[in-house]
Amino acid sequence: MGYVGDNKSLEVLLGGLKRLEYRGYDSAGVAVIDADGHLGVRKRSGKLKVLTDDLAADPLGNGATGIGHTRWATHGGPTDANAHPHLGDNGKLALIHNGIIENFYDLKRELLAEGETFTSETDTEVAAILVGREFQKTHDVTESLRRVVARLHGAFTLLVMHEDQPGVVVGARRNSPLVIGLGDGENFLGSDVAAFVEFTQRAVAIGQDQIVTIRPDSVEVTDFIGNPVETEEFEIAWDVSAADKGGWSSFMAKEISEEPEAVANTLRGRAVNGTVHLPELESIGAAVLADIDRIIIIACGTAAYAGMLGKYAIEQWSRIPVEVELSHEFRYRNPIINSRTLVVSISQSGETMDTLMAVKYATANDARVLSICNTQGATIARESHAVVYTHAGPEVAVASTKAFVAQIAALYLLGLHLATVRGTLSAGEIAENVAELVAIPDKIAEVIESAKVIPQLAHWMTDTQSVLFLGRHVGFPVALEGALKLKELAYIHAEGFAAGELKHGPIALIEPGQIVFVVVPSPRGTGSLHPKVVSNIQEIRARGARVIAIAEKGDAAVLPFADEVIPIPLAATLFEPFLAVVPLHVFGMELAAAKGLDVDQPRNLAKSVTVE
Ligand code: G6P
Repeated sequence: MGYVGDNKSLEVLLGGLKRLEYRGYDSAGVAVIDADGHLGVRKRSGKLKVLTDDLAADPLGNGATGIGHTRWATHGGPTDANAHPHLGDNGKLALIHNGIIENFYDLKRELLAEGETFTSETDTEVAAILVGREFQKTHDVTESLRRVVARLHGAFTLLVMHEDQPGVVVGARRNSPLVIGLGDGENFLGSDVAAFVEFTQRAVAIGQDQIVTIRPDSVEVTDFIGNPVETEEFEIAWDVSAADKGGWSSFMAKEISEEPEAVANTLRGRAVNGTVHLPELESIGAAVLADIDRIIIIACGTAAYAGMLGKYAIEQWSRIPVEVELSHEFRYRNPIINSRTLVVSISQSGETMDTLMAVKYATANDARVLSICNTQGATIARESHAVVYTHAGPEVAVASTKAFVAQIAALYLLGLHLATVRGTLSAGEIAENVAELVAIPDKIAEVIESAKVIPQLAHWMTDTQSVLFLGRHVGFPVALEGALKLKELAYIHAEGFAAGELKHGPIALIEPGQIVFVVVPSPRGTGSLHPKVVSNIQEIRARGARVIAIAEKGDAAVLPFADEVIPIPLAATLFEPFLAVVPLHVFGMELAAAKGLDVDQPRNLAKSVTVE
């Protein structure tokens, strides 16, 4: 983040970095120009707290200008030396970076040959040295940065300041995110609005290949050539309290408690009187939507599991074939798409680089792109033909929870909308499904209330080395999501399997004591799914597994075979995942907490992965 204003840059930066820390926490650093015009830098490996403790013991001078950074390491390990800011022009210029400068090695060789020395292994330091060299010629940060970005390849947001130009911070962006916060006598830059929402609700998103210069009383945006560009201000829809922990032990605990509200907010105004309203799709056009012959859903991580659930519902209701693919796999395999393909991207942050690149590829190849996104003004939203926002509120914990259920809700709305425009469901059938959807928030709240047994289960399992998850039909993506949560939060080897696939290999993993979570479909559901899954439970029990079943309240058939049953309320088959996933979210969190791990910031991860 960057700041220009009155003499409180250090406090503003440290507060902003605290809210941005979920984006990366391998190291943190700040640079400020103090009241005497001297540029001071402090950077430390480890979480932000290491830096704040260091600054508390040995303060830097406060001033009107500063930049701050938290890092998710790409080039060079998470050391003090590799932490940002990096310096140029004999320590008078400081620069921070998000992204990867892909041609850094060639540039570095060139600079080394010219006698420059480097103190880090990062790609970023190359940019700091290059901008420093240009400053010696131009004496202007904006012009220097403009000259350098023309030479860089890859993805970058760069922020730069120089002690000879106090009161100025300059940012440039290509592919990585950057937002301006408009204050009164002060202005801000941030990778997202969380950086400055404490001070202002007024924001401006910066477009691709643009440069911004902020001063306390002005903001100027140009393209990389220097031509002024029009910008559009937007109001941040949430306030600072939404981005605070508010008495909860972790952001994740708070966000799980907000799952009912996240779904309700996503449905608000869109599921009304038994019908679905998605005016956002108008920019694609009813005629185009009526004509599409294929849907490809692209996403990464948890969002991709929401996408798998979307496939079940959209195909069932609209009879349009749906494929689900990880964004990074889709992008580089020459996929078959054309103007009759609807690509649906799903991203909480709207900044995941893998998904952004896939979206750009899809638009460049004539597909229509609709994005499901939780962050206003995010790059993926801007690059798409239409966007359906999930209104889950800011999600801070790295492991996605409330955004996941909101994404499923948005996908189901899309499925029902397509069924409406294509006439594949009757008005009565649409109304029945809408009724199921609007009942979901209260049912999730009921699950959260009855999930009280889970902390106890988690405490018993702190030494567990491996946990398996089984599910069938829509229970399968739920099983995958349960396994992902355990891997990322509790660092336990976990796998999710389609229950029907068990006998084709994974059953060899079952030995006495192996813990298996089974997502049991409703006995009232169609397609005899229930008895098949109950048989699977018996098969693994016969081999010594300990079974924890997530099953519909009153499902007597599982009781004799499960070591533990976690009951969920009644819902139609397609809607069960909203409920079955909740205990798995709670379990991942509780097991990580019981192992003494950082629930909100698991090792090696970042919430918004803005590199490919
Ligand atoms: C990261 C996070 C995951 C998240 C995925 C996709 O890997 O750790 O929790 O599901 O990114 O993020 P997105 O913002 O695109 O939904």
